[in-house]
Amino acid sequence: MARKILAPGTILAPLPAVMVSCGTTEKANVLTIAWTGIINTKPPMTYISVRPSRHSYDIIKESGEFVINLTTSKLVHETDFCGVRSGRDTDKPAKCRLHLEEASAVSAPVIAESPLSLECRVTEIKPLGTHDMFIAEIVAINVDERYIDSKGKINLQQAGLMAYSHGEYFSLGRKLGEFGYSVAKKAKNKSYNHSARNKRK
Ligand SMILES: Cc1cc2nc3c(=O)[nH]c(=O)nc-3n(C[C@H](O)[C@H](O)[C@H](O)COP(=O)(O)O)c2cc1C
Repeated sequence: MARKILAPGTILAPLPAVMVSCGTTEKANVLTIAWTGIINTKPPMTYISVRPSRHSYDIIKESGEFVINLTTSKLVHETDFCGVRSGRDTDKPAKCRLHLEEASAVSAPVIAESPLSLECRVTEIKPLGTHDMFIAEIVAINVDERYIDSKGKINLQQAGLMAYSHGEYFSLGRKLGEFGYSVAKKAKNKSYNHSARNKRK
């Protein structure tokens, strides 16, 4: 198959499209962010890249805090809306009828409709060009109890998470495997083959 080389761009897919809340519960704003990810395990660290022109930019810079709220298929309309309207002239949480709750460790509120929210404290701001990268420590995980199983493990399979791919929103599909399953399966097959071979001998 022939492949084509294109000019460099930002196509990486799928990405999360998260709703980032900032400000305070009384005076909150929410913007949609796709430029986000995990960048360290211990301490747990994340980033969001925000254009300085966004209304949220100064709010996050001044408070040094924000909350990353995971989004679901049920929240797709609100996610898009918060990414195309500005808090400068629209009260987005009210317009989207989002319920805001006090976070446990930061001043920015949590969106109650989100299954899981990361409470974040900014440690560094890195200007990169069009966007500034807010590097932050995740200081608390705020999760809807429905997604904690009897063993205390977070289980988001039933949360209806969604993903963003090159300008389009998708619901996550069926489970294909789990971390490490490829080698676990091989080991199982290997021992099976061994015993099968031994039986043949
Ligand atoms: C799916 C999606 C992803 C987005 N990702 C980003 C992003 O990573 N960084 C950013 O600065 N703006 C991003 N935006 C645009 C902002 O969310 C948008 O400009 C928003 O209106 C800013 O709100 P504010 O002015 O209230 O802060 C995205 C928008 C959408 C719809």
